[in-house]
Amino acid sequence: MRVAVYPGSFDPVTLGHLDIIKRSSKIFDEVIVAVMFNRNKKPLFSVDERIALLIDATRNIPNVRVDSHEGLLVDYLSKNNHQIIVKGLRAISDFEAEFQMASVNQKLLKELETVFIMTRTEYMYLSSSIVKEVANFGGDISNFVTDEVRQAIESKLGGGL
Ligand code: PNS
Repeated sequence: MRVAVYPGSFDPVTLGHLDIIKRSSKIFDEVIVAVMFNRNKKPLFSVDERIALLIDATRNIPNVRVDSHEGLLVDYLSKNNHQIIVKGLRAISDFEAEFQMASVNQKLLKELETVFIMTRTEYMYLSSSIVKEVANFGGDISNFVTDEVRQAIESKLGGGL
């Protein structure tokens, strides 16, 4: 069985992430979406909130599971005996950081492969940070995230960011 781990911050999940999840679920037998967290960072959503939004957004894809991990991605992979990381690759600007991460991860865990899926052009510009910035200034984010995520962002912002 081919299992791929799709890691990210998912703060929060966007339509770009969901496109990568859907497409990788057709390539792999199981896709584990791993919410990576770092106590020193200040996300908008807690890990539990990010997981809940991901579970909701992927409820119609049977071979997708959502998990979380604090620390190194390679530790998560070796602990669970997984060997494949799947990542979305946006414009050229993503390449350098992704190349570095894939190389370091491969040095840390030899049997590892990172597989990149090219983001569809309509999501090329999309990131969780840009969605939060647009929302923060009152812009319309309905083309970028699901309704549930939009409502979750709006209620966070309504509560004072
Ligand atoms: O959604 P993001 O923030 O672009 O995802 C980046 C993420 C979380 C996948 C990356 O920062 C990561 O793997 N973090 C876990 C810590 C780790 O393993 N760092 C070394 C990678 S070289």
